[in-house]
Amino acid sequence: MEIVHYRKGQVGKVKIGIGNDHAAVEMKNDVAAYLKEKGYEVVNYGTDSHDSCSYPEYGEKVGRAVAGGEVDLGVLICGTGVGISLAANKVKGVRAVVCSEPYSAKLSRQHNDTNVLAFGARVIGIEMAKMIIDEWLNAEFMGGRHQTRVDMIMAIEEKQEQ
Ligand code: RB5
Repeated sequence: MEIVHYRKGQVGKVKIGIGNDHAAVEMKNDVAAYLKEKGYEVVNYGTDSHDSCSYPEYGEKVGRAVAGGEVDLGVLICGTGVGISLAANKVKGVRAVVCSEPYSAKLSRQHNDTNVLAFGARVIGIEMAKMIIDEWLNAEFMGGRHQTRVDMIMAIEEKQEQ
């Protein structure tokens, strides 16, 4: 099985936590299969039921798994990707991006060091989702001036605790 790296020097398989609500069960399954096929380890934190549920629960679960180091990265899917990414972004240490196209996904890794990717099962199809995922996972954070800006974003969390 292919060994994948998302940061230089990382050894072993990259672990991806995946979360979804009822609007994205099929897409979650397709995305999980795609990631596994590419050699990633996938942990499912989402619902497998079509019964109506609340996306904040799954955004928070995956956010906490990423922030706590249980997994390396997170992928979140709801109807639009918006609600579930908003929930994940409330977890300290999470930088979640919602994307409907690959350019922003790539730049969000290179410039913003995003650690959670979200998209909408009611917005894009599986082929676009795969393209977005590939660009996001294959891009590397550029550091330098971008690190300074990411540090500024993370400092907002510290200020809020006071
Ligand atoms: C569920 O109907 C829907 O609100 C949810 O999947 C998501 O789109 C929220 O942002």
